[in-house]
Amino acid sequence: MRPRSAPAAPSSRGRIEAVLPPAAVAVERFDDADPVWLFPSEAAVVAGAVEKRRKEFATVRLCAREALARLGVAATPLVPGERGAPAWPPGVVGSMTHCDGYRAAAVAPAAQVAALGIDAEPDLPLPEGVLDMVASPAEVAAFPAVAGPQWGRLLFCAKEALYKAWFPLTGRWLGFEEARVDLAVDGTFSAGVLTNGAALGDRVLTRFTGRWHAADGLLLATVAVPS
Ligand SMILES: CC(C)(COP(=O)(O)OP(=O)(O)OC[C@H]1O[C@@H](n2cnc3c(N)ncnc32)[C@H](O)[C@@H]1OP(=O)(O)O)[C@@H](O)C(=O)NCCC(=O)NCCS
Repeated sequence: MRPRSAPAAPSSRGRIEAVLPPAAVAVERFDDADPVWLFPSEAAVVAGAVEKRRKEFATVRLCAREALARLGVAATPLVPGERGAPAWPPGVVGSMTHCDGYRAAAVAPAAQVAALGIDAEPDLPLPEGVLDMVASPAEVAAFPAVAGPQWGRLLFCAKEALYKAWFPLTGRWLGFEEARVDLAVDGTFSAGVLTNGAALGDRVLTRFTGRWHAADGLLLATVAVPS
């Protein structure tokens, strides 16, 4: 019998769900659950990892299992596969993120959402020199000219969310210089991919839209590609 784990955060509509389409279910936590039951194949992934990594890995999977349960999908091992992308149960797309004080997982039926990417970052300036590595001068020049969150960090967050949706769709790496992201003050962003697009049915996608949220020192970004 599986040991019981502490329940995930209350299931009222959370911060990240507010920036996801209605078809998606997300569960977030602001602490680590302990203990968390893991499938043996999951436990093996973090067997040699430091405690912080073991806890975030386990807690975000607890979030994912609760989100899957709300979709009526049984738990399966969420083991990192190619380039770290987790394997989701058949018929489901999903994404996970963790940063200091925050863990979240989002899932959706593949019939409605073709790909999902979520990312969380602290609302703090990027470390020295990082902005130049993740943003072009044109992207920086296009930051909203109003006080708001750390726009550079938010751009980084949006690009990571984009990549987490992009990779499962394409199986391809996407460099920071291979997408142009424009942040809008209304909580949305657009992303144009500057390389071969993602094939989806008879479409080739080079433009994506995302949503962001900033509150209480936390930045959230999501990209959901409709099926
Ligand atoms: C993979 C990456 C996006 C993870 O982001 P991060 O901010 O470092 O870490 P987060 O905690 O937010 O996310 C980690 C989770 O992302 C997921 N993830 C990792 N690799 C992934 C991939 N290739 N595709 C989709 N999801 C992936 C995993 O679920 C992982 O959690 P887990 O290891 O517990 O399973 C980042 O490390 C990276 O490699 N970025 C470079 C690529 C990129 O962002 N390009 C921008 C293109 S514009």
